[in-house]
Amino acid sequence: MMITLKNVTKEYNKGNIGLEDVSLDIAKGEFVFIVGKSGSGKTTLMKLLQKELDVTSGQIIVNGQDYKKLTQRNLPKFRRQMGMVFQDFRLLKDRTIFENVAFAQQVVEVPHRYIKHQVENMLEMVGLKDRMNAFPNELSGGEQQRVAIARALVNHPVLLLADEPTGNLDPVTAKGIMELLSEINKSGTTVLVVTHNKELVNEMGKRVILIEDGHIEQDEIRGSYDI
Ligand SMILES: Nc1ncnc2c1ncn2[C@@H]1O[C@H](COP(=O)(O)OP(=O)(O)OP(=O)(O)O)[C@@H](O)[C@H]1O
Ligand SMILES: [Mg+2]
Repeated sequence: MMITLKNVTKEYNKGNIGLEDVSLDIAKGEFVFIVGKSGSGKTTLMKLLQKELDVTSGQIIVNGQDYKKLTQRNLPKFRRQMGMVFQDFRLLKDRTIFENVAFAQQVVEVPHRYIKHQVENMLEMVGLKDRMNAFPNELSGGEQQRVAIARALVNHPVLLLADEPTGNLDPVTAKGIMELLSEINKSGTTVLVVTHNKELVNEMGKRVILIEDGHIEQDEIRGSYDI
C-alpha cells in the first residue's frame, strides 16, 4: 500500500472535528479523487498526509513509514518523496520559472550540474521550457499551475498530493491540468486530487472518495460525483 489510515481522528482545538475515525487504503499507483462539501475534511486529510498536522488518534502509514515513528529530524527527507500542488500555486514571485523549479532541488542538495538538466526536462514535460526565464506574473494561471506541478515532480516523488489544483482555472485549462496529473499517474506516481470539479471527476472514471462531516461516506472504484 502507498497509504493506510487506521481509525484516524483529527480534532482541532475547541472540539472542532476535521476527520473522525477514518480508515482507508490506497495502493501504489492509484489515482484517487477526494470530493465533498466545503468543511467536510478534505484539506485536513491532505495536511495529515503531509504531516503538516498530527493525528489526534489512529495510525497513518505512507510508503511503509508509520508517522508515529517519524522523527522531526527525518521529516524533511521523508517529505521529499511527496510532491504537493495547491489551489493558489505558491510560486516565488521574484524568481524565474526555472528558478522556481530549481529551488526544490537546491533545497534537497542535488548536485549543481544535474539541476539544469532535470529542471529543463520537467519544464519540457509541462510544455513550458520556452518560458523558463519568465517570472510567474508573466504567466497565465494555468501556466503557473503547470510550473507548480513541474516543481512538485522534479524530485521524482512516489506520491503527489494536489489540493484543488484546478480551483482557480477555467474549464479547458482545468481539464489540461487534470490530464497532466493523469499522465504523471500513468508513469507510476500515486496521485491524490482534492477537487470540486464534478464534470472532470465524472469524465475521468477514477476512484472517488466522498468525505462528509469528517467521515468517508462513499468510496467507489470508478466513481462519480453527483451530490
Ligand atoms: N486550523 C483549524 N482550526 C480549527 N478548525 C479547523 C481548522 N482547519 C479546519 N478546521 C475545521 O475542520 C473541518 C474540516 O476542514 P477542512 O479544511 O479539512 O475542509 P475542506 O473539506 O478542505 O473544505 P473546503 O472544500 O472548503 O476546502 C471544518 O469544520 C473546519 O472548520
Ligand atoms: Mg480544503
